[in-house]
Amino acid sequence: MDGNGRWAKARGLPRIAGHRAGVEALRQTVRTAGDLGIPWLTVYAFSSENWSRPQSEISDLLGLLKTFIRRDLAELHKAGVRVRMIGAREGLAKDIRLLIEEAESLTADNTSLNLVIAFNYGSRDEIVRATRSIAEAVAAGSIRPEDITQESFATFLDTHFVPDPDLIIRTSGELRLSNFLLWQGAYSELVFLPCYWPDFGKAELLGAIKSFEARERRFGGVTPARDVAL
Ligand code: FPP
Repeated sequence: MDGNGRWAKARGLPRIAGHRAGVEALRQTVRTAGDLGIPWLTVYAFSSENWSRPQSEISDLLGLLKTFIRRDLAELHKAGVRVRMIGAREGLAKDIRLLIEEAESLTADNTSLNLVIAFNYGSRDEIVRATRSIAEAVAAGSIRPEDITQESFATFLDTHFVPDPDLIIRTSGELRLSNFLLWQGAYSELVFLPCYWPDFGKAELLGAIKSFEARERRFGGVTPARDVAL
């Protein structure tokens, strides 16, 4: 969800105005994804590197997460959305952790759309935390090194309950992943859009899905028809 700051700057507004508009775009996207029957939606709301931003902006973003959960949770629950978070919880304040736990437990039985919010999330941090847990399990004798496989490794990641993403969309014209789902996105299709996140709406989501549908996914293999033709 990139480009909130530049969206605000282009309008002569403070960055918080861009983040507020970003929350509105997030609400719309959750609704549209639900309408389209998309089963999983993961959004990158705050990275483990975002702590290097000015304290005032960090407070704004933490405040927006709290407001989002407080104000939108009832509606999300009513719409059958299951909300879960990925990212390091240890570094978060107690009130935020409690709100996250409340959102997760209230919506635990919902089945319409799985909304995964990446907060205090960084892929390298996640992989290191998973590796540490595996090393502890090996040291304790509950896992043998030869039992570590790609599948078993993935069960130690924050995303152990989330299927690998088919499509990753980044807004604002930046052409990089910035530490988002690096393991999980190994074979994801990537769509980079020029619009800033607050301008991301139904048309942009449908356009990204159309682009995805035109891709040929080989997962490292070959396309049978082309293989024969060559
Ligand atoms: C990137 O834009 C966006 C973020 C760092 C935060 C994304 C957050 C939201 C959309 C709102 C928060 C939502 C929840 C649920 C907490 P940027 O600030 O890097 O923009 P810039 O690159 O133009 O400066």
